[in-house]
Amino acid sequence: MRPSEHRTVILGSGSELPPKVMTNTEFEKFLDTSDEWITTRTGIKERRVLEEGKATADMAYRASVQALQSAGMEASDLDAIIVGTCTPDYPMPSSACVLEDMLGARKVFSFDINAACSGFLNALTVTDSFVRTGRIRNALVVGSDVLSRVLNWQDRSTCVLFGDGAGAIVVGASNDGERGILSARLRTDGSYAKTLYVPAGGSLQPATPESVEQKQHTIIMNGKEVFKIAVRAMEEISREVLEEANVSVDEVSLVIPHQANLRIINALAERLKVPQEKVMVNVDKYGNTSAASVPVALDEAWRQGRIAPGDVVLLNSFGAGFAWGAIAIRF
Ligand code: ACO
Repeated sequence: MRPSEHRTVILGSGSELPPKVMTNTEFEKFLDTSDEWITTRTGIKERRVLEEGKATADMAYRASVQALQSAGMEASDLDAIIVGTCTPDYPMPSSACVLEDMLGARKVFSFDINAACSGFLNALTVTDSFVRTGRIRNALVVGSDVLSRVLNWQDRSTCVLFGDGAGAIVVGASNDGERGILSARLRTDGSYAKTLYVPAGGSLQPATPESVEQKQHTIIMNGKEVFKIAVRAMEEISREVLEEANVSVDEVSLVIPHQANLRIINALAERLKVPQEKVMVNVDKYGNTSAASVPVALDEAWRQGRIAPGDVVLLNSFGAGFAWGAIAIRF
């Protein structure tokens, strides 16, 4: 098979949501907020919070084991492990390397990609390039984030929005011309870097007692600005990807958007002219799980029978950077 004939197909998927559920009502105990405000502004009813002592790779591991099982594969079949995360276990090494060891995958190369909420789409797009050029055959692509560890729990404008989780898929090379990733595009605009960011903990402002005291290690966001640009950017890149894939919006069976806010999802669907029943939504149960949001939704949709062979599925995402992307896949 010549590299140019390869397509990247999805062979299996899995997801892991921590068991601890935190409902909107629980925020009412320590914040000036309400279930009513959170529900009407975001569509979120509850989210999951990872227990202490566990981290990104632990959730990634559980999602990955499921993905390998559903693909009927072993860790030893993998050539690469690529993890989208902005909350790695350590500053170094990567969570992908931690995960590789947990899985016992021994002949792989592994690395993390930080594109915040777009981390999974970036990871899948990079993996697709490796597969299409014939560099690798099988890979594990993961989105895993523990945003509960980088939230200011006194900031009602951010802490109610996010949750923890992980999603994983196993992909492989195929020469069945009809199936696989049809088109993938990524974009960034770094001029918005400080519209949504964590100021401290990197090389610019390493941790000090003052930085911890001032909660500089937590997410700071201009939510209105994110909202406005997210909808426009995801619409535009989705249209580009569909055009490149030579697929009309009507031919798309399911849109799996980044699960940040129900109002963003609805506005995007309206602009794309996609009916509600063709849009996957689980933001009500998990909040915004960052890089995990799209693969978790994909796994749920697949397990619920909402994706059939031959279906064209459109993924899209938007997050800090700003970084955004879209991928069209025929199953
Ligand atoms: N409970 C009650 N009131 C609140 C809360 C809360 N949890 N949060 C904010 N408010 C108040 C504000 O203080 C403000 O009060 P004021 O008018 O007295 O100043 C009022 O509610 C309105 O606030 P707005 O910011 O105008 O509310 P908006 O309708 O824009 O909704 C929200 C805010 C939900 C954050 C929205 O802007 C949004 O979803 N933006 C996108 C955010 C997002 O998705 N971020 C993640 C991107 S992905 C990634 O990379 C991490």
